[in-house]
Amino acid sequence: TRDRPDALRTPIVAVLGHVDHGKTSLLDKIRGSAVSEGEAGAITQHIGATAVPLDTISGIAGSLVDPDDFDLPGLLFIDTPGHHSFSTLRSRGGALADIAVLVVDVNDGFQPQTEEAIDILKRTGTPFIVAANKIDTTPGWNPQEGEPIQASYEAQSDRARSRLDENLYEIIGQLSDAGFSADLYWRVQDFQGNIGVVPVSAVTGEGVPDLLTVLMGLSQRYMKDQMAIDVEGPGAGTVLEVKDEKGFGTTLDVVMYDGTIREGDEVVVGGMGDPIVTEVRALLQPKPLAEIRTEKRFDRVDSVAAAAGVKIAAPDLDDAMAGAPVRVVRDRERALVVADVESEL
Ligand code: GTP
Ligand code: MG
Repeated sequence: TRDRPDALRTPIVAVLGHVDHGKTSLLDKIRGSAVSEGEAGAITQHIGATAVPLDTISGIAGSLVDPDDFDLPGLLFIDTPGHHSFSTLRSRGGALADIAVLVVDVNDGFQPQTEEAIDILKRTGTPFIVAANKIDTTPGWNPQEGEPIQASYEAQSDRARSRLDENLYEIIGQLSDAGFSADLYWRVQDFQGNIGVVPVSAVTGEGVPDLLTVLMGLSQRYMKDQMAIDVEGPGAGTVLEVKDEKGFGTTLDVVMYDGTIREGDEVVVGGMGDPIVTEVRALLQPKPLAEIRTEKRFDRVDSVAAAAGVKIAAPDLDDAMAGAPVRVVRDRERALVVADVESEL
């Protein structure tokens, strides 16, 4: 839902990185949730989506983000699995993204799925920043709950600070080996040619204000044109999961990245056989800050505008596939939309 019909689309932020480097924990910190604790072996096995409104972002970022300076409605975060067996899900998450956060454990540095994530970002040409996570595990660290990184740095001993710096420069070197010019984010002037590294802790929240500020700043500055879409146009999205929902039968968890979808809309969905043509019975939207992957309660809504996570209930969805496109037909010719979906499978 949005306040103004001419509002900009919410940017989609994919969170990528090696297993256990703290992607879900970072989102938990932003949401004020504990999704990671509920996961079997703390391993993420599906793509998730969470809408974070501008108010929440400025609440966390404090003086760093003044909501009056922004006309983006917030950010839609896509959580991805880091375990090596989920490479399809990582590419899918990466392909959806307008911008990405590459999460790297500051002690472990680059690992195989960090490299894989970088390859995905290179291939899709997605701009990204690096969250150098787990800074609180630096020996001798003096935690500064929820503080911006500058304040946190000032509270450290010389020893702790230089240990962290060593790890950070290691990561900057690894980015350089991967072909990217990178530096600590406060030293980066031109974010189009350089990767900003933001030291953070998903446990203490240190640096999270900076991370959100950089994401909002980059989105506002470099992606405003991309976000100025016709939000009223026919909706387009990607299926994250096909799920049974009590009272609704087979439903689709979808990330809508373009236009609007409404109850009653005719939609075309990629399936195991021919594309499925069906009609939207109900649209179920997770509340702001809820993770669509784990949320049990949804609001039934008349329409959903991009970018957003939404559960779609409709007949004949049994053969729908995760990763497949979803397209609203609206005032277009159905056969053309079907051909469009077929070409994307
Ligand atoms: P996958 O989704 O399976 O790839 O893992 P993930 O990247 O989502 O990692 P997750 O958030 O599940 O965190 C893995 C473990 O690291 C958990 O035990 C977290 O509590 C811990 N962890 C994450 N971030 C931090 C941090 O900043 N500091 C500390 N000390 N521990 C952290
Ligand atoms: Mg995870």
